[in-house]
Amino acid sequence: MKIAVIGTGYVGLVTGTCFADSGHDVICVDIDAEKVQKLKDGEIPIYEPGLRHVFDRAIREERLQFTTNLEEAFEFASAVFLCLPTPPGADGQADLSFVLNVAADLGELFNKIPTYKVIVNKSTVPVGTADKVREIIASKTDHEFDVVSNPEFLREGAAVEDFMKPERVVVGTSSDKAANIMLAMYQPFVRSGNPIIVMDERSSELTKYAANAMLATKITFMNEIANICERVGANVDQVRKGIGTDSRIGKRFLFAGIGYGGSCFPKDVQAIHHTAVMHHYDFKILDAVMSVNDSQKVSLVEKIKLFYQNDLSNKVFGIWGLSFKPETDDVREAPSLYITKELARLGVKMKAYDPEAIESFKGSIDDETSNAIEFVSTRDAALEDVDALIICTEWNEFRRPDINRFPHIMKSPNVFDGRNLYDLEDAQTAGLNYISVGRPSVYV
Ligand SMILES: NC(=O)c1ccc[n+]([C@@H]2O[C@H](COP(=O)([O-])OP(=O)(O)OC[C@H]3O[C@@H](n4cnc5c(N)ncnc54)[C@H](O)[C@@H]3O)[C@@H](O)[C@H]2O)c1
Repeated sequence: MKIAVIGTGYVGLVTGTCFADSGHDVICVDIDAEKVQKLKDGEIPIYEPGLRHVFDRAIREERLQFTTNLEEAFEFASAVFLCLPTPPGADGQADLSFVLNVAADLGELFNKIPTYKVIVNKSTVPVGTADKVREIIASKTDHEFDVVSNPEFLREGAAVEDFMKPERVVVGTSSDKAANIMLAMYQPFVRSGNPIIVMDERSSELTKYAANAMLATKITFMNEIANICERVGANVDQVRKGIGTDSRIGKRFLFAGIGYGGSCFPKDVQAIHHTAVMHHYDFKILDAVMSVNDSQKVSLVEKIKLFYQNDLSNKVFGIWGLSFKPETDDVREAPSLYITKELARLGVKMKAYDPEAIESFKGSIDDETSNAIEFVSTRDAALEDVDALIICTEWNEFRRPDINRFPHIMKSPNVFDGRNLYDLEDAQTAGLNYISVGRPSVYV
């Protein structure tokens, strides 16, 4: 099948590349000419494990091309995927302008190139967007087309694997013709029997928000349990094991930390909350989720202030991890942004290290924060002569350093760990002051 992917970011590039790898012919469109040129030159503008291998193969076998020309892509394809941004607008509602503007362009193009096409919306969009896209296109053309909702569930850092082996594919359409095209398109990815679930458009659109809101709630619930643990002298790691073995609860998404971030959970929780408000429904649990997450993101700073009795003058801290989670260079809504901003405001100087996200982080901070940070190229360089280490992201290389060396490299052996990476006894043996999340603190 011939597929066009409009928007070549994290979702679009993975979608296009994986479809091409499964044998479809794909053209990816982006308005960012520099990005398109890089892709044409074989450069991948994001860090996503495993993408290089499938990208190179798809290019070599001439099934993946890139363009800035929407008309060229439209003419080429029988299915057009929209993988466009839907950032939070005013009041947290999803900004649909990218999607609706492209829908209008597609409507015009149907008049020039009158062949049936399925327009597939992969962006995360509020309920009713498929109807809006259909109305906009239909207002420009009488030609036959279908609009399908096909939310994407890939996780950055595991996006290729998630796309190649989805636990499920959700397809929202009331058209049998479009449903059959979608089933054929996704068949190569569900050979092991995972379902393609066809439903109506509105349920499909809501499924994506329900999934992300549920996961954000699970994370937040566990962070609240961690906060209680700190107050009653319990250990959240043990509580996690105690409840995670209950199959009704499950082991995943139970790790306490410094809040969820990323390009999806924060904006999607806001967006579904806004949908509820628009429909006069008080979605109380999501109010709590958003408010707890906001405070959780800076909870480590509160612990630091308490430790230093509010005197952070002349302090230099090492920062390990800037991306919102490991295995990605994405820093959107990363807790590190909030923590470093607050520390900079309090006069702290920092040495920051991340294996992949330094460049994207630099582009996301204000001058005050930037002036307070020296970016370094190894994890050890971020430890040298610092008053404390702050761990923001659980990259693999931070999980098993020789912590016994810390007191010899650092000026003071103080570790504030937002990801609970080390065993408390090991921290004690290493001679660290070790303050983590939901666990007893260790003092030298
Ligand atoms: N990133 C994720 O992990 C993830 C997962 C599931 C769903 N989603 C959803 O997928 C959508 C896309 O997310 P993303 O992270 O890939 O965004 P992104 O910002 O990484 O990429 C969007 C791309 O669209 C391009 N673009 C903007 N306007 C365009 C236009 N008119 N024509 C062509 N290209 C245009 C941008 O230049 C950019 O390259 C969002 O709705 C998001 O919520 C994201």
